[in-house]
Amino acid sequence: MDFHKLAKKYDTPLYVYDFNHFTKQFNKLKKAFKARKSIISYAVKANSNLSVIKHFASLGSGADCVSIGEVKRALLAGVDKYKIIFSGVGKRDDEIKEALERDILMINVESEAELARVHDIAKEMGKTARISIRVNPNIDPKTHPYISTGLHENKFGVDIETAKKMYIFAKKSEFLNPVGIHFHIGSQLTELEPIKEASAIVADLVRSLKAISVDIKFFDVGGGLGIKYKDEKLIEPYDYAQAILSTLSGLDVTIVCEPGRFLVGNGGYFITKVLYEKVNGDKRFVIVDGAMNDLIRPSLYNAYHKIEVLSTVENPEISKANIVGPICESGDFFAKNIDVPQTNPGDLVVIYSAGAYGFTMSSNYNTRPRAAEVAVENGEDRIIRRRETFEDLIACEIDYLV
Ligand code: LLP
Repeated sequence: MDFHKLAKKYDTPLYVYDFNHFTKQFNKLKKAFKARKSIISYAVKANSNLSVIKHFASLGSGADCVSIGEVKRALLAGVDKYKIIFSGVGKRDDEIKEALERDILMINVESEAELARVHDIAKEMGKTARISIRVNPNIDPKTHPYISTGLHENKFGVDIETAKKMYIFAKKSEFLNPVGIHFHIGSQLTELEPIKEASAIVADLVRSLKAISVDIKFFDVGGGLGIKYKDEKLIEPYDYAQAILSTLSGLDVTIVCEPGRFLVGNGGYFITKVLYEKVNGDKRFVIVDGAMNDLIRPSLYNAYHKIEVLSTVENPEISKANIVGPICESGDFFAKNIDVPQTNPGDLVVIYSAGAYGFTMSSNYNTRPRAAEVAVENGEDRIIRRRETFEDLIACEIDYLV
């Protein structure tokens, strides 16, 4: 990846995505599940650029969406509507209605109250809603608490007994068709055992539902496969698939898997450049033109991202420094106390593993235009989102004009 060429051509701060890496990751996972019917439904929230979604659609991917906006993105990017799932703990009536109009594969329901809403809306529309129910298997996924979702203390899904009740209700209703079951215990998972345990619990539920003639067709295992940011020990896709498959004996289900980070995380780079260096007391700061509004993971989760400083200083001295952005918050940093070579203004700083939850979690805080996004595929680069302008930022504010 020629970061200098890309920074010169598109300026910084800049997101760059290696589409060949995306393809490789998708194929690895698809292959791991080849013993069964499977749908890989890319979790759009990880990186929702239309060109990224379109790339996965062209490989046969579905889409896991958490807002009607994401559903619309998936459809616009050419994802097959029968591979689109709409999840989320709080869907609005208009979102449910539109999902039914768009006739997607299934709405993933996360509470009894929501099931009743989906029922009523489908009835009003004279439709039958295909649904799945998100089960919370009460398993500790052993990941960061902010991205852990499969414990009863988390807001997601319903417990087994409630799920059973909901399936019975759905089975009886002519406006609901319970086709799927879903669980997702957390993100950046690096241990296999919790996934296997959760899968076994949910598979048992599918068996008991079968006994009461609720025939589940889609077994949705969520996303969560971890990637290497630093020195994590990773789960191999093959072992992941085998662990899930081993819990499904006797069940004729299509496996749905919703990876986000695994597909795009390590294929993304955030490129920023040095503006200045300064020393406060004995503390050295390297100030760059990217900031927490562009990539919030270090500030929000204290997340580690590998950083490479492409210094142009000859034989630079190396010393500890914080790499920080221009935003007026002490939390605006990419790394603290790391070894950084002396730099010249304009030197590039490359932040690795920025393809997932990078741009999608960016904001306009401090009235900063969001970065441009570039795709690199087979050695060719192309812009897939232009840099925002000041005019873009104020476009929705109209009152001051009158
Ligand atoms: N399916 C469901 C229902 C989810 O809630 C998520 C992620 C995924 C799939 C995709 O998970 P993945 O394969 O990417 O781990 N912003 C955080 C991550 C939040 C994940 C939210 N849900 C971060 O930057 O680490």
